[in-house]
Amino acid sequence: MLIDTYGRIATDLRVSLTDRCNLRCTYCMPEEGLQWLGKPELLSDDEIVRLVRIAVTTLGVKDVRFTGGEPLLRPGLVGIVERCAELEPRPKLSLTTNGIGLARTAAALRGAGLDRVNVSLDTLRPDVFQTLTRRKRHDDVVRGLEAAHAAGLTPVKVNTVLMRGINDDEAPELLAWALEHDYELRFIEQMPLDAQHGWQRSDMVTAQEILESLRTRFTLTAETDEARGHAPAERWLVDGGPARVGVIASVTRPFCRACDRTRLTADGQVRNCLFAREESDLRAALRSGGSDEEIAELWRTAMWGKKAGSGLDDPTFLQPERPMSAIGG
Ligand code: GTP
Ligand code: 5AD
Ligand code: SF4
Repeated sequence: MLIDTYGRIATDLRVSLTDRCNLRCTYCMPEEGLQWLGKPELLSDDEIVRLVRIAVTTLGVKDVRFTGGEPLLRPGLVGIVERCAELEPRPKLSLTTNGIGLARTAAALRGAGLDRVNVSLDTLRPDVFQTLTRRKRHDDVVRGLEAAHAAGLTPVKVNTVLMRGINDDEAPELLAWALEHDYELRFIEQMPLDAQHGWQRSDMVTAQEILESLRTRFTLTAETDEARGHAPAERWLVDGGPARVGVIASVTRPFCRACDRTRLTADGQVRNCLFAREESDLRAALRSGGSDEEIAELWRTAMWGKKAGSGLDDPTFLQPERPMSAIGG
């Protein structure tokens, strides 16, 4: 079991498969990209599957989510999913992607055992998409979403970050579109995890602003805390339900108290929190011949050191050294 000193138990593992990405979202990374990890630094497919196996069979992990950078850029993705789906007990498997290339791979991923996907899309307007991501790929994402839905990778969730003056007027329109396509839309408050360290609290579109904007067109009814469970998203029934909309308000309404997450970076470091400033090196243990039990023990120790919260509201808050794209969101 992965338990921390506050009694929280981590059963949800997020595995970053690469730090690379084919978009350049302005709230994430600069135009020129970043200093990517080299092949020898990355965990191999076998190493990833071994760590997931240890997490699932001895540490009580039940949900495994593959992230990036952009996880569809990892050549071995389908095989990794397939091998993780064979583990006993079988974990639930999901993927967070920007959707580029998903139209081509959705059916194979479903066949390999992937249960569902979350796709990032911030705007319905191709020109705004290009401003936000610095790439002309809006159409690929929309087709990726459609293919994921058709392949049964459901519920398909859509993640949207609103940026002031760029797409913050689109919330109701995005929700109407999501309802029409049977996608579950969630708005995410922008977090100080950008590689450029340009985040400013005053620029962030808050949960409250998002809800006000949605309520100009929809009736929203809050879901109970019980229904929320350990999810970072707070959800509202739209016009009486059953459709819902979510808000992930990590800055203004943090959910750290109920956090059930542990993370593995693409270079094999365990992080006990998105905002952690320390990591534990499982890759070194793997590559120096560590046993499953030794690796499990390192992982337990890493989680034991998890702090109560993100520390975002502390005057001494410091952004983690790694940006979002290298942590895995
Ligand atoms: P499900 O609700 O299980 O579908 O997944 P999710 O919403 O947690 O995952 P997803 O990868 O779609 O992430 C959505 C947003 O939640 C991203 O901006 C993540 O960075 C953020 N997020 C995920 N885990 C955490 C966390 O532990 N803490 C905080 N503050 N944000 C998180
Ligand atoms: N703050 C909030 N969300 C972010 N994402 C990427 N960077 C940030 C940030 N700084 C979002 C992506 C994707 C999800 C995994 O995280 O848009 O939807
Ligand atoms: Fe790529 Fe995601 Fe960063 Fe956008 S937010 S550049 S899609 S890693």
